[in-house]
Amino acid sequence: MKIKSDGNELVTRLWDNWHAHFRQGPLLEFLVEIFIQSGWRRRIVAEPNTQPPKLTGQEAIDYCLGIKDRAAKILHGQEFMPIPVLQITEKTTSEMVLRAYELGVRVFKVYPFFVTTNSENGVVDYTKIYPALGALEGKKDVVVQFHAETPRSEVEGRFKEEAFLGWELSEIVKLFPGLRLTVEHISSAFGISWMKSKRTEGRPIAASVTIQHLTNTVDDVLGYSKRSGGLVRVHEGFKPHAKDLKDRDAIRAVVLAGDEGFFCGNDDAWHLKKNKECAGVSCGAANSIAAPSLIIQFFEENNALHRLEPFVSEFGAEFYGYLLNTETIRFVRKPWQVPTELVVSGANDTVVPWRAGEELQWQIAD
Ligand code: NCD
Ligand code: ZN
Repeated sequence: MKIKSDGNELVTRLWDNWHAHFRQGPLLEFLVEIFIQSGWRRRIVAEPNTQPPKLTGQEAIDYCLGIKDRAAKILHGQEFMPIPVLQITEKTTSEMVLRAYELGVRVFKVYPFFVTTNSENGVVDYTKIYPALGALEGKKDVVVQFHAETPRSEVEGRFKEEAFLGWELSEIVKLFPGLRLTVEHISSAFGISWMKSKRTEGRPIAASVTIQHLTNTVDDVLGYSKRSGGLVRVHEGFKPHAKDLKDRDAIRAVVLAGDEGFFCGNDDAWHLKKNKECAGVSCGAANSIAAPSLIIQFFEENNALHRLEPFVSEFGAEFYGYLLNTETIRFVRKPWQVPTELVVSGANDTVVPWRAGEELQWQIAD
């Protein structure tokens, strides 16, 4: 990474994003362009919670080919690399994952039942996915990504991550010690220490981190933080929800320490306005536009700009087994405002970006 001597320009390798949602139809067309324009020009893990979900390797690959076609028509989109993901459900057999692997799928995803958007095919009984996990264990180029919240209804929301790691995932790590996996969007102090202790034991596991979990606490959605101005903020509603200061600070500490087990997976989860501003609100942060500037600001404000490039372009690629991006991207310090609302053509609706209307400090120079 290069920083200009006046501190107003920086050049990094292109960034990777190990967790994002492209959706379908007009929203997909719109989002491919938004991702690329916002600087996400290379690897993006294309999550499979579409409707219907991507439940075969071929479906996951075809989905990404469609995204690539769309990207090829956009400036800077020629090298765009959506990464196909097969969802593992209770019905996924070992043959199905091996078939997907033969086709080239290397990333798999496990959702908990009815905890988040389109998770009706999610898992209730994790022992039912053991055959699929067993088939993937030991494959050095495979990563199974877990939305790490327990579906057990007796566990309250704020403890769902802790409960999942302490029980379901601990069991999986014990039974399948050679399974490469990530805890996505890690959100709790418990999660950070759990991950650190398992990594110290030598487990091949890591965690992705979102900018919203680095910046928010639960008060931002409930309307108690200064930024919320006393109002409940539906656009700050995502899963797992941001937790307390001690949780946010534990995530910050590990990222600022440059721990290679924690890297950028932003969980860009856009929803149409009609699904975000209504009685039953879809969870997810429409963060792709604000994220690059907020990520740079986060490292800069903490005097840790030297940790930026490893977090966004190196640790993830190393864990997933990719070569580091060699092309670069240039950012300049130039205040700008996040748009308040954008029209999604063909959808008869708009979207409201996360941090709409806020002034941010950094933007892409080219
Ligand atoms: C995601 C979505 O909208 O698809 N929502 C979210 O709040 N994170 C799903 C997910 O990643 O759990
Ligand atoms: Zn997600």
